[in-house]
Amino acid sequence: MFQIPTEKENITLRPIVRNAVPELNPMLVRGSDWTNFGIFEDGVPIGVTRLHLRDEPSTVELGYEITGRRKGNGFATVAAKAITEYAEGELGYERVIAKIDPINIASQKVAKKSGFVETGKEGNFLVYAHQAPKNL
Ligand SMILES: CC(C)(COP(=O)(O)OP(=O)(O)OC[C@H]1O[C@@H](n2cnc3c(N)ncnc32)[C@H](O)[C@@H]1OP(=O)(O)O)[C@@H](O)C(=O)NCCC(=O)NCCS
Repeated sequence: MFQIPTEKENITLRPIVRNAVPELNPMLVRGSDWTNFGIFEDGVPIGVTRLHLRDEPSTVELGYEITGRRKGNGFATVAAKAITEYAEGELGYERVIAKIDPINIASQKVAKKSGFVETGKEGNFLVYAHQAPKNL
């Protein structure tokens, strides 16, 4: 089975589609132009992280969500770091961005802890960006 490893041995990511992991279906309501990856803790589904192609060249947008009972354990950060590394390293994107509601402090913390920096606004959202290392 294809899996994306993370810095935590027991947390892994794998691509999912609706109904593949019924527990995560409520998190898969985003448009079909997102590629969703389940976040698993010891094989148990605990969230979703997702990528979405942007119009700008070589840029992909990141999203993440953790189920209520597993929030606050650093898992979104672990997943965001791993999917960003995958997007830049394996998929070859030069830039990963996240659009975050200014009132969503938890999400901004996740972005900052994952190496993203605030670069501006898009509509009502703050834009955070991560640049691929030059040596990739
Ligand atoms: C945002 C979200 C993904 C964070 O997941 P998580 O696994 O709890 O994130 P982490 O544990 O890695 O880090 C969260 C940080 O925010 C902090 N935090 C959590 N709730 C907070 C709040 N209401 N106000 C301020 N800080 C908060 C945590 O203490 C932690 O900070 P720390 O690293 O200084 O301890 C999760 O809350 C979620 O699924 N929210 C709903 C969906 C969402 O908002 N997704 C992002 C859309 S851009």
